[in-house]
Parts: sequence; C-alpha cells; structure tokens
Amino acid sequence: MSQSKAETELQKFFQGLGKGGYKEYANSKPAKAVRDISTPLAVNMLRQMGLDEKTTTPFNLLDSGAGSGVVTAVLQETIQPTVLSQSKIISGDIGEHMVEMVKSRIVEENWVNAVAQVIDAQKIPVESETFTHVTSNISFHVVPDSEGALNECIRVLKPGGILGFTTWHRNGAGWVPDIEGAFKSFPFDAPFDMKMQTTRWGEWSDVNWIRRTLVGKGLQDVDVAVSSHLSHVNSAAEFVDSIPGMIEVVMKATWTEELIAAHPIDEVKKLVAAHLEKKYEGQGWDLTWTSIIASGRKP
Ligand SMILES: C[S@@+](CC[C@H](N)C(=O)[O-])C[C@H]1O[C@@H](n2cnc3c(N)ncnc32)[C@H](O)[C@@H]1O
Repeated sequence: MSQSKAETELQKFFQGLGKGGYKEYANSKPAKAVRDISTPLAVNMLRQMGLDEKTTTPFNLLDSGAGSGVVTAVLQETIQPTVLSQSKIISGDIGEHMVEMVKSRIVEENWVNAVAQVIDAQKIPVESETFTHVTSNISFHVVPDSEGALNECIRVLKPGGILGFTTWHRNGAGWVPDIEGAFKSFPFDAPFDMKMQTTRWGEWSDVNWIRRTLVGKGLQDVDVAVSSHLSHVNSAAEFVDSIPGMIEVVMKATWTEELIAAHPIDEVKKLVAAHLEKKYEGQGWDLTWTSIIASGRKP
C-alpha cells in the first residue's frame, strides 16, 4: 500500500467519524471498540505522567488528537473533584464531528472544566508555554507531519511541564492478523497491507527511536514503557461491525478501483465474517494490543 494513499484514506476516515452525532456514535459498535482499545492506554499514560487519583496539584492539560475524548473521560473519573475543579482540560482534534461529540459529552456527562475545539496538532493555535501537561493517545503515528506535531506539543508546554503519549508497538497487532488472514482466504486475489503508522517521519512503533527522539528534542526524565492488554470480541459479526471503516481504508488504499467494484465492501465484510466464524468456531476471542507509553519533562 502506498503510504500516502493510506494516509489520505485514514485522514478521510477520521474526518468522517462521529458524523451522525453523539448519541448515534456513542452507542455504536465502533465507538465501544475504540473505548475498549484506547482507554487502558490513556489510563497507563496518565499514571506515568503523574495524573491519577493521588494527584493534588491542579493542572492545565491539552489532549492533542483527542478523538472522542477518551483521555478527558479517564481524567474525569480518576482525578479528585477538588483538584479537577481547579484544573482545565482541552480536547483538540482535526475532526470536526469528533470535536462536536466531545462537546456533547461535556454536557451529557457533566465533565468539569473541559472544553473541546478543532485543533490541528501540526499547528496548535496557542501561545508557547501554556500547559502543564500535553497528551496524545495513539495519534502521532497518523498525523501527516508527526515531527511538527511533536514539536508543537513541546512548544506549548510550560517549563517543567510533562508530555505523555502512546503509540502502537510494532508487535501491537490488534485486529491486523484477523483481517490479513481473512483477506488471504478470499476466493480471489485480495492484496493486504495495513500499517499502523501512516506518517512518513519517525519510527513510532520503536521504543528505542522514541527514547532517542525525546532525548534529542531536549526532554528530561524520559520514560518509555510497553504494555499489552486484550479486548474481547463476542462474535465474527461484532468484529466486522466494529471495524467497517478499517476494512474500507485497507481496500481503498491497497486495491484497484476495478477490484473494489468487483468486490464491494458488503461482500468483503461477509467474507471476513465467514472466515472468522470458522477460525474461531463460532465463539468469541481476544485481540492483543501492545502499546508504547512515553513521557518526558520539558526543562
Ligand atoms: C487513533 S485516533 C485516537 C483518538 C483518541 N486519542 C483515542 O485515544 O481514542 C487518532 C486521532 O488523531 C486525530 N488526528 C489525525 N490527524 C490529526 C491532526 N493533524 N490534528 C489533530 N488531530 C488529528 C484523528 O482525527 C483521530 O481522532
């Protein structure tokens, strides 16, 4: 798959996420899958940054590439109300629908001192040295100019401020092996290439590159850890309903238009479901997610 095609398709996918509004998305299978997958990463990342139930100092945090607001949701649950009432959290994302959804969540879920706005991670419209904490949960690897995005996160941190982020470890396979195995089983030649990283800059799945890069950018107390968790899939039908967007992204980035016309998404979803139904003998199964959790302090 050409990296630029994958990047374009993935950006289109993110822009479209949450288009139907908060209620429709929040209760959908893809939203549940995202919560199950992203939340453990956010919990680990925030803990590594010193933000958990023991936190006593108020903070001013930007979550860059916030998606549906997973990081803010964890903060609202874990931080003591007295600390939260003196803190501020901004969720920024390039996807307008996502931002609208987080705005709805702020109201519907009574989030304290949280705001959401459209923010391009590559050019954060905020003065330098504004935040005590900046987070980015599984986002850097899909932002086109990921070096620009990293530089921006560091720029907007106050001296002494903490950057924390997660990315997928190169063994962080998730749903890739299941889709790949399914594509191989099709009764026609179905090219498959699905890389978690679409940005051209960096090796976001490599712990050593991440450590070197953060140290090279001048951060101190750099901490890089790895964590794995499982997310449960109840059935093959649930699997394909949870990730229709991902299957489509792979097809559009890897297949010719003729091949897509000959085998449209609905047919491909049915073939994937049939393969997984057989592979897991009609039972549920677990997906393994391995992530890198990185943090550092701006001197
Ligand atoms: C894999 S999702 C992660 C979302 C969320 N942080 C979570 O933990 O579920 C990546 C997010 O990065 C966002 N994104 C991609 N490019 C971006 C950019 N240039 N600026 C801001 N956000 C961007 C996407 O819209 C998407 O919401």
